Amino acid sequence: MKKIGFTVFGVVAALTAMPSMANAEKLTLYCSANEDWCQVMARGFEEATGIDVAMTRKSSGETFAQVKAESSNPKGDIWWGGTGDPHLQAAEEDLTAPYISPMRGKLHQWALDQAASADDKTIGVYSGALGYGYNTKLLADNNLAAPACWKDLLKPEYKGHVQMANPNSSGTAYTTLATIVQLFGEEEGFTFMKGLHKNINQYTKSGSAPIKAAGRGENTIGIVFMHDAVKQAISGFPIKVVAPCEGTGFEIGSMSIIKDGRNPESAKKFYDWALTADVQSRALEVNAFQVPSNKSAKTSPSAPDMSSIKLIDYNFKLYGSSAERKRLLKKWDDDVSTLPQ
Ligand code: F6P
Repeated sequence: MKKIGFTVFGVVAALTAMPSMANAEKLTLYCSANEDWCQVMARGFEEATGIDVAMTRKSSGETFAQVKAESSNPKGDIWWGGTGDPHLQAAEEDLTAPYISPMRGKLHQWALDQAASADDKTIGVYSGALGYGYNTKLLADNNLAAPACWKDLLKPEYKGHVQMANPNSSGTAYTTLATIVQLFGEEEGFTFMKGLHKNINQYTKSGSAPIKAAGRGENTIGIVFMHDAVKQAISGFPIKVVAPCEGTGFEIGSMSIIKDGRNPESAKKFYDWALTADVQSRALEVNAFQVPSNKSAKTSPSAPDMSSIKLIDYNFKLYGSSAERKRLLKKWDDDVSTLPQ
């Protein structure tokens, strides 16, 4: 009798504990910025709210593909960071949900413009200009002149010395492709990409990998966002940062709530929290030198000065559209990546 009593008590106790466990707040975060910054965001949100965060870091194009593949049974709640183009494509393909945050009044206009062009299904969290960086020691060891323009990267002497990511997986590399097409026109732009292909030693999966490799002395020139090159230089590596002479494109790093995610309330809490000045200022803890979207967030004097860089009028609406992104990636796959080197 006593034993049965304990067993019944045990079952009842287990059943009453279950709902509270099931109700414990959770958040599945898909993060497309650098791993160290993603960790700061995940752990920082847990500390601030007590909500458990499961975070996965993948590049922008890869995260887009994952959100799309999971759309009939979404596993992620929020996608933070990564270039804006695939966030815009996700919005157009109805993979993400609209949200009007009370934090909006604190943001720069460019962050709100990003939201407006996607029916409020995404928003800008940071911005940064594209360029490249090179390892000054490797350049000197190989008797190479310092490059200053995009077209310098086509010089035959740089063969095997240039690295960029694959534009299918990486938002950085897609921004590069779209920037070159906007700068030089589509025909000349693809001629440029084919010429560049001859000098590429590897197409990496992640956008910042080429400059990390340059920092380690394993690659000479890495085509990346300028802030990612500054991060290597600040860390003590012999990296020089270049704003290409012809002008360059830029990103509006974005954030989107995944449609029909399992934890929509946690997603909104994260969204509002991630737009605060205090949280955006924490980027500096990990030497992330993007321009924050909150007007009061701290910036560093080491960050690239956007006002001194010749920026193109990047057409986010067009290059973030589903049809154009698919078309350009297919054209790059068919006409560039398959060419012999
Ligand atoms: O965090 C570094 C960063 O360059 C961001 O500025 C950018 O949004 C993201 O990485 C792009 O990463 P990827 O090219 O791997 O998609």
